[in-house]
Amino acid sequence: MKIAIINGPNLNLLGKREVDIYGNQNFEEHFQTLQNQFANEITLTYYQSNHEGDIVDQIQAVGYSFDGIVLNGAAYTHTSIAIADAIAAITTPVVEVHISNIHAREEFRQHSYSARNCVGVITGLGLKGYELAIRYLLAQK
Ligand code: DQA
Repeated sequence: MKIAIINGPNLNLLGKREVDIYGNQNFEEHFQTLQNQFANEITLTYYQSNHEGDIVDQIQAVGYSFDGIVLNGAAYTHTSIAIADAIAAITTPVVEVHISNIHAREEFRQHSYSARNCVGVITGLGLKGYELAIRYLLAQK
């Protein structure tokens, strides 16, 4: 089974970015933990970009062959019709994840263009959300 994690802008700064909101751990470390955790069951890949078009390219690249995508589009969640359209275009199911609870934050974060094209959304459960999304996708197989 193949699952892709795709992270959007500024998530390369996890661990040093607004640590009160996003925590102290960087994502590379967390990805290692996830890879070890699911080593027997899943081929897990990780891609991060600060650029909208690159995220669209990556969604297209994995979106017809992988079994699941865990997407944290970060700020593009709230702005990008291109990413929403890419999710609608592919056949691979996408779970949207947010580390923080976007519904408890500024109003502009409370709308997601991408959520309607995803199978579900996990928001506010910290980095644990990635693991839960993977477990959901695994259970669908
Ligand atoms: C985020 C929430 C977004 O509003 C924000 O722009 C991010 C991270 C989260 O994981 O909580 O960069 O997607």
